[in-house]
Order: sequence, then C-alpha cells, then structure tokens
Amino acid sequence: MRDYTQQLTVEQFGAMVPTATRTLGSQRGPYLGYTPTGAPLPVRFDASQAPREDRASAALLIGTLGSGKTVASEAIEYAAERAGSLVVDFDPKPDHGLHKLAELGERLEVLELSGDPAQQGRLDPLAIGLKDLREELACSYLLELLPGPTGSWENAVSLAVKDTVREGSRSLLRTVELLGASDRSPAKEAAEALEVIRDFGLARLGFGDGQSPSLEVAKPVTTIRMPGLSLPEPSAARDTYTRAERVSVATLSLVAAYALALISRDRSRHKIVGLDEIWFLLASPQGRQIVNRLVRLGRAFNATLLLGTHRIADLGDLSDLIGVVFIFGQDSADAAAAALRFVGLSPTRELVGRIREFRAGRCLMRDLHGRVGEVQIDLVYPHLLQAFTTTPQSPRSDS
Ligand SMILES: Nc1ncnc2c1ncn2[C@@H]1O[C@H](COP(=O)(O)OP(=O)(O)OP(=O)(O)O)[C@@H](O)[C@H]1O
Ligand SMILES: [Mg+2]
Repeated sequence: MRDYTQQLTVEQFGAMVPTATRTLGSQRGPYLGYTPTGAPLPVRFDASQAPREDRASAALLIGTLGSGKTVASEAIEYAAERAGSLVVDFDPKPDHGLHKLAELGERLEVLELSGDPAQQGRLDPLAIGLKDLREELACSYLLELLPGPTGSWENAVSLAVKDTVREGSRSLLRTVELLGASDRSPAKEAAEALEVIRDFGLARLGFGDGQSPSLEVAKPVTTIRMPGLSLPEPSAARDTYTRAERVSVATLSLVAAYALALISRDRSRHKIVGLDEIWFLLASPQGRQIVNRLVRLGRAFNATLLLGTHRIADLGDLSDLIGVVFIFGQDSADAAAAALRFVGLSPTRELVGRIREFRAGRCLMRDLHGRVGEVQIDLVYPHLLQAFTTTPQSPRSDS
C-alpha cells in the first residue's frame, strides 16, 4: 500500500508559512468576514484603527472585474457609518448600492454632478481647493483641459491664476477673463480655447463665477456620482483622449480635491473616503498628485481611504503609502504574482493558482500588522448583499 502522506520539499513547506497564520485583522471593530481555511475564525476590520495608531491609512482593494472590490468597500463603509464615521463614497461607474439601504434613509445623500447649467461652478478649483493648493489645482486643471501640448500656455495660465487669486477672486471664469484681456498672444489663445471648453458638459462644474454654491456634505453618508463621465480605456494614451474624455479625467481630479478639502474640516471625527476604480484618477498627473496628497494627509486628518483598482501597476509611487491590502481574484498569472509580491509573498504556483480562482468576495488580506491570510468577506445580512450586488438582477429585486 502506498504511503498517503504528501511529501513536501523545504521550499513548498516554506511557501505555506506566510499564509499559515490565521489570526488576522483588527483586534476590535466590525466583523468583515471569516477565514475560510480550516475552522472559520472571525476577521474584524476597524477602518479607524490606522489613523488612530498613526499608520498608513489607505486600504487597497485590488482585483479583476467582478471579484468583489466594490461589495467589500461598501461593507466597510456601511460598518464604519454605523460606528459613527463620516462616509464619502465616490461611485464613478455608477454601480454602488448604499442608497438602497432603508436604514441609511435620511442619513444618506446622493450628489449627482453633471454638466447641467444649474451646477455651474460647483467644483471650481479656486472655490473648493484647500488654501495652499488652490492655485496649483486651478493651473493643472486648466492645462489638463487644453488640447495638445500646453507648453506655450503654461506661463500665461499660471500668471492669470495668480492674478485671480491676488484679486481675492475665487472664480475660474475670472481667470479666463483675465487671460482674454491680456495683450500677449499665448494668453489670448488659451482664453479662446478655454472659452470653447468651459461650456462643454462636465467642464461647467469647474468654472464658477465666485458666487456658485459649492458642494456641501451635510449627511453622514454622501455618494458622489457623475453620470456624464466619459472615461477613456485604461490603456489609452493621453494624447488619444477625446475632448469629452479629457474633460472627464480633469473633472475627476476636482472630485478628489474636493474630498481632500472635506476630510480636512473636522479632525475629531473619523472619515472614510471611498475611491473606486482609482485608475481613472491616476490616469492624469494631476489626479495622481491629488490622490497622493489625499493618502498622505489622510492619517493626519483622521481619514481612511479605500482605493479600488484592477492592477498593482496603476499605483506607482502610491504603493508605499498603503496599509491594509485586500487581494481579490486576479485574471492573469502575472497580475496575481505582482499582487503577491506586493504583500511580501513569493508567487508560488500554488498561491498564484489560488488567487486566480478567488471570486465573490474571497481575498487575501494583509492587515496592519503585516499578517497575510485568506478571508471570505461576509455581509451577514442578505439585504446588504442584495443592495451591494452589481450583478444584473431581475427587475423585481431591483425595486
Ligand atoms: N462578499 C461577497 N459575498 C457574496 N457575493 C459577493 C461578495 N462580493 C462580491 N460578490 C458577488 O460578486 C459580484 C461582483 O462584485 P463587485 O461588484 O464587488 O466586483 P468588483 O471587483 O467591484 O468588480 P468591477 O471591477 O467590475 O467593479 C457581486 O455582484 C456579487 O454578486
Ligand atoms: Mg467595482
């Protein structure tokens, strides 16, 4: 009779050790799921722990299409709201479902940002930007909107923004006016180009007259949606963007800047900012810079960022600022290997294969202590999963 004991090489045994630990997550805080291997142990995740303990406060949720990132972010946000945190959830697709929860009712507001004339200037960078970032934000927003190489316009735009701020005005329309009134030709050209763009769909949001009511977040949960977004393919090069795509990408950075202003207001209350599909934001240098700031300042402002994305490669220099990581299902061996390396594991064939099979909220979590283990995100209540599920449902259950 053959021996049924499986023989392991030293390497195989060693490769199992990083996932052999089964204690995972925060010591206290809301239940997020359980360890599916062996006897299940509960896994808690306290989103406010990282800023409280002065650790990197961005959590990354990474995974392929339909692997469970959005459902998990919403589960974390929901639990945090119940524990008293403020939640700002940016829903770019849109496919989030916090608004479907009756228990959030009056506590939730959906902000729809659109190119409607009534929304003119709601995201004007001079009005919403933090004081010391306003000028820079306005300059990069304008340059991002302008077509083609913007080198010759850079000076003119930055001078006009400076003059606007010096006047005490907080209106980008004023900046365009100043550009147009200049007797230098690059300024005039930039003004002409901006005059065409500023009334184009979502660009309206960025050009205020200094009086436009800015965005306010009044409820414990705010879902921000932008139905008019027209986003480029993740792999598209910047110079191939259409005008609508350019405007969309530039406007997204304003939403992130707005989130930054928002989290800086009240340091005493914990906040969660959920940025799903973060590669949209990282597609522009300006967006990247703002996300970088958000993540860096999050801890000091008592805020936790939930960043959802498909690929590790999108992160670039942000990767040093990530605390907790959730690796959901990956669609290729390369992506799985990159994700494993990111949490400090060797991409053995077994682990790569396992991660590629993860679906429906199964993930590998690296907690704040650096422990890594498998977790099944568990919403417990069926109505939560039903509200958050993004798989098309029959019309009856959607009502
Ligand atoms: N924890 C979970 N328990 C059970 N089912 C889940 C769980 N998480 C996700 N699912 C199922 O998987 C589907 C896809 O999840 P989700 O929308 O979160 O994926 P995603 O990673 O955000 O995808 P995409 O990249 O396309 O946005 C959900 O509609 C739901 O049916
Ligand atoms: Mg999603």
